[in-house]
Amino acid sequence: MIIKSIEIENYRNYDKQEIIFDEKTNIIYGDNAQGKTNILEAVFLSGTTKSHRGSKDGEIVGFGKEDAFIRAVYKKNGVEQKVNMQLRSKKKKSVSVNGQPLKRAAELMGLVNIVIFSPEDLGIIKSGPALRRRFMDMQLCQLDKSYLYDLTNYNKIVGQRNKLLKSMGKMKEISDTIDVWDEQLVFYGTKVIKRRKQFIKDLCPVMKKVNSDISGRDDKFEVIYDMDCSDEEYEYRLKKNKEKDLIYKTTSAGPHRDDLKFFINDMDIRVFGSQGQQRTAALALKLSEVEFVKMNIGDTPILLLDDVLSELDSNRQNFLLSSIRNIQTIITCTGLDDFIKNRFTIDKCFNVKNGSIEVKDQKGEI
Ligand SMILES: Nc1ncnc2c1ncn2[C@@H]1O[C@H](COP(=O)(O)OP(=O)(O)O)[C@@H](O)[C@H]1O
Ligand SMILES: [Mg+2]
Repeated sequence: MIIKSIEIENYRNYDKQEIIFDEKTNIIYGDNAQGKTNILEAVFLSGTTKSHRGSKDGEIVGFGKEDAFIRAVYKKNGVEQKVNMQLRSKKKKSVSVNGQPLKRAAELMGLVNIVIFSPEDLGIIKSGPALRRRFMDMQLCQLDKSYLYDLTNYNKIVGQRNKLLKSMGKMKEISDTIDVWDEQLVFYGTKVIKRRKQFIKDLCPVMKKVNSDISGRDDKFEVIYDMDCSDEEYEYRLKKNKEKDLIYKTTSAGPHRDDLKFFINDMDIRVFGSQGQQRTAALALKLSEVEFVKMNIGDTPILLLDDVLSELDSNRQNFLLSSIRNIQTIITCTGLDDFIKNRFTIDKCFNVKNGSIEVKDQKGEI
């Protein structure tokens, strides 16, 4: 699938801007803080309803403005899909597809598939577990609406359960109400765990292949779903931890504590890997995401690369750029030097200056 164009209005530092993308490789270059990432964020948002930076709608609306608009045109299986979005500070966003308003923004999920790779993702192996859970969730939510539904309910119930644990109510009442919540937690939690388990099982061989393509070596490579507790034992664990939860006033067991582990030749990359191995694994993880979407929907996702090329050495840069030839990619960077020097193909080139975009030729000239 491809994104044909996007128009943003009152969006961060943009007043009104339309961008028409090429079907292949698009480069957006410009100095820092000019608005490169903002464009990728708007594209990601228009496909997933979420900012990849985790920003709230109110932070995205241009300073001093009431509301922001995104109008994106996608092409999927030869059919145009028009996604319109209105973001406001204190209200929920409204979304329409081809002129039809959606009841809930989340209904948009699954219409388009986008994979974004940003500098923070390079640290995904090394960082805390939240980023790794987010990786699983972003993938699964885009591919599986029932997962999105189960996860949303699960998170809601964990939040309510924690609120109850923190409340100053009578111990007996809290304890009884918790039992009611726990039935629901087990219902949704086990579904989340099962789906994640299957996802990692499917992802593992894909990632092994991508990793050996990048490193040029046939290493043993494993991704392990390091679940906090299995679907079978979840109910038991909740019961067992109940007293502890009442004392510490938080829910201690469940998939909100899950993690992923990566092993190369039986070595835990997070703990023992070199920075190079960690970066290769992070890059492999992102490219596996692309492969995984292809396998699941029989179409390519849109790939967004936010300022990651300068963070990779030339071998990994080459690998990345050669593996994206058949997929629509939007790349941001500060300069075009590497592209020109290495003769990488650029199909369309944009320059950003202070919230305004100009189309340039492939040497960065008009
Ligand atoms: N809500 C907002 N309203 C207006 N400007 C904003 C808003 N949020 C961020 N900005 C501006 O956007 C710019 C950063 O854009 P960004 O796309 O992150 O830059 P870069 O080109 O480095 O990727 C900064 O100048 C920042 O002040
Ligand atoms: Mg940026």
